[in-house]
Amino acid sequence: MQESGLKIGYTIGENTSGKFQFVISDESNIKKWEYVYLMIKGEIVIGRIEEVVSKSELMNENMDYQSIDRYSSNGLNDFVNICISTTLGKIKDGFLTQSREIVRPGMPVYPAGDDILQQIFSFDPEEALDIGSLPDNNVKVSLNVNGLRRHLAILAQTGAGKSHTASVIMEELLKKGASIIVLDPHADYVFMKKGVNGEIYSDGISVFRTPLSTGRYTNDDVGIVNNFTIRFSDLAPEDVKGIMDIKEGYTNLNSIVDDIYKRMKGRKDLADFLQTAESLPQEDYRKIRGRLAFLNKIKDIFQDYTTGITDYLGPGKMSVMDLSGMDQFLANYFSYRVLSSIYDVKLSSEFKYPVFVFIEEAHNFVPPRNNSNIARMIKKIAGEGRKFGIFLVVITQRPGKIDADVLSQCNSQIILRVTNPSDQNAILESSENITGYLMADLPSLDTGEAIIVGEIVKMPAIVKIRDRETRAGGSDIDVIGLLREAREEVRKRNDPSEVRKKTRDLLGEF
Ligand SMILES: Nc1ncnc2c1ncn2[C@@H]1O[C@H](COP(=O)(O)OP(=O)(O)O)[C@@H](O)[C@H]1O
Ligand SMILES: [Mg+2]
Repeated sequence: MQESGLKIGYTIGENTSGKFQFVISDESNIKKWEYVYLMIKGEIVIGRIEEVVSKSELMNENMDYQSIDRYSSNGLNDFVNICISTTLGKIKDGFLTQSREIVRPGMPVYPAGDDILQQIFSFDPEEALDIGSLPDNNVKVSLNVNGLRRHLAILAQTGAGKSHTASVIMEELLKKGASIIVLDPHADYVFMKKGVNGEIYSDGISVFRTPLSTGRYTNDDVGIVNNFTIRFSDLAPEDVKGIMDIKEGYTNLNSIVDDIYKRMKGRKDLADFLQTAESLPQEDYRKIRGRLAFLNKIKDIFQDYTTGITDYLGPGKMSVMDLSGMDQFLANYFSYRVLSSIYDVKLSSEFKYPVFVFIEEAHNFVPPRNNSNIARMIKKIAGEGRKFGIFLVVITQRPGKIDADVLSQCNSQIILRVTNPSDQNAILESSENITGYLMADLPSLDTGEAIIVGEIVKMPAIVKIRDRETRAGGSDIDVIGLLREAREEVRKRNDPSEVRKKTRDLLGEF
């Protein structure tokens, strides 16, 4: 980054109020993605360099190698370096507002210094979430917590840094006293209670797990784990139907369950329910037997306590729903229970604080045109949740495989590396904030570098997301280490002395 105030070039050629180009001096080392400014009628107009083009009139495509060689060794060089820049706006009272001023050729261009940039990328401390800095310099970038009111999508291919970014936002939200719920299918967030050095990071973070979750990590790995259980007798007949995947349209099965409840005379425990079912007419029993077997298979979740909203929702509280190892149907069911109870307490204003819901692998919960309970609930929150203070952070590596309405309800996006063209297209279609220039940068982003657009920033920015303060879960499998072990196993298998030892173990001394 260069010092502010020293002119680095002049605008040239054709310019519009949205885009200008300028020729830079040979000494300038300004790079793509850096910021510059022009002074127009006493106001600072900020631009961002989208492309740096170096070209020569003389040494063009029609010239052969020998001629170029001669020119070049004689120091005859007529190249020009041209920067193409988008106009981001003008600074007014510390804010960036739209600039409609014409950019004329011959205007001096200055590099935007850290002081100017810092002004643009900060917010009032009470609304600021500190998430990183501009690459190449020390300008800190904050997100505006208010911008989360209209939902956020974190999009990128696997390994680009989505979960890392989400964790950083969770850390920042916790500092603000937020209430956070995380749907975590791969146990990516279960270690966040601990800091990077193993110390306790926050007492407000809890991990919930059902007795059915085989889990990616054991309870001992994670530390204290709260069981997510249900008391069967707390369930309304409709809930039980939901768990048994009996949809509204299945009139036959619906009335069979109603019949069981009638025979049982009220809500009782699972054993009663299953036993009573056996007294059904043969034909009915046969029809529902498979569903009863399913209830029996998951019987461990039915304990004498129903985990409720007061267990997992509270100011300054973050509850990670560890869904790892559960099949998608049950994961959906639990997620639905959690989100619908949140929806209810927000709708009725029983809980007055804003709730931030992070959904990892969101494409699995709300695929396109899906009508499951959880998909409908997420669509409902995406559509009207902000009216009641429920804000979504949708995380996915498959932007083309998630319901398009949910994605387009996200007013802000954090996009990390994406190389697949169809995913890029899905992202482009999902938001009007994303320009072709920004899209072109997506494949070349480093891990942890993100393009941030929308209401959470004053202007689109490429940001290096900061380091985490909490411990990461779910890091990639150690392929190298495991292959080393595999080789050792092969060696043992083929080693004559090992083979003899094995035979001896089997047959005794020979
Ligand atoms: N901003 C960052 N700074 C440092 N390391 C990062 C950053 N973002 C991601 N990483 C590292 O890159 C790896 C992949 O990140 P992760 O968040 O798990 O990606 P994703 O969720 O997109 O698959 C992890 O080991 C993580 O620690
Ligand atoms: Mg991840």
